[in-house]
Amino acid sequence: IGIFDSGVGGLSVLKEARRILPAEDFLYFSDNAYCPYGDKDQDLILERAREITDFLIFKGADIIVVACNTATAAAISALREEYSQPLERIRMISGGRIDHVKFIGMEPAVKPAALGTRTGVIGVLATAGTLSASKYLNTKGQYQDDAVIEEHIGEGFVELVESGQWSGDRAREVVKASLQPLLDAGADTIVLGCTHYPFLKPVIEKIGGEGKEYWVRDRNYPFDPAFLANEQRMAEKSGRGTYFGRWRVEISKPQESSEARFLNVISVGDTYMTKPFKTRRLK
Ligand code: DGL
Repeated sequence: IGIFDSGVGGLSVLKEARRILPAEDFLYFSDNAYCPYGDKDQDLILERAREITDFLIFKGADIIVVACNTATAAAISALREEYSQPLERIRMISGGRIDHVKFIGMEPAVKPAALGTRTGVIGVLATAGTLSASKYLNTKGQYQDDAVIEEHIGEGFVELVESGQWSGDRAREVVKASLQPLLDAGADTIVLGCTHYPFLKPVIEKIGGEGKEYWVRDRNYPFDPAFLANEQRMAEKSGRGTYFGRWRVEISKPQESSEARFLNVISVGDTYMTKPFKTRRLK
């Protein structure tokens, strides 16, 4: 299973994926050379998504998790279309090993928030790219009668998470600036519509106070084994017995601290993800 994001945000998704599907092997791609995606042109994000998808297929992935709300909004429809028809392309890239690919995307959890709010107001925190995309606007349109939907870009959140500043005065100050307007509007539920934001959840909760609920991801849980079910795959997995899947990280712009940073994210975010990995450069 290939997973990608603009940076470390998708590790919050990888963590869940490994918990639910422990026998799968995962390849995580961090596109930090282009991070953040949130304010980038949609065409550029689609272009990156295609390149990364090809790379993950080349490495043997037949399921691609777009572990990024911004990239899902910008690219997933096109990816599903482009990789559904010319199967030769997939066969060629994978050297004949794979002939079809499934895509799993992220979507801000507006539905459960809108249906569950007690104050009738929900707040959505996401990137500019997500909030302006038609995918999000359609979802919002469907639940506008159920709740008042207030939004705010999580200004500076991705930068905080990427630089490992998940707590402290600076994090509180940055988070408060985007969160407070939503709280002032009466939101009792905050949708975290970007896979980077869960890393700031403790700060968000502290500012939000008691009695708030926080939705992190989609209602259709992306790793529902039923979604992946395909008899051959399931048989293959069960034949592996107690096999514990491997995972590794590839990164578009390794920095000296990359490895340390990933290990830090992983050890804080998920204590069992302690297997070694390699980072490598992809053009
Ligand atoms: N983690 C991504 C998301 O879920 C993208 C953040 C960014 O690069 O701006 O939207």
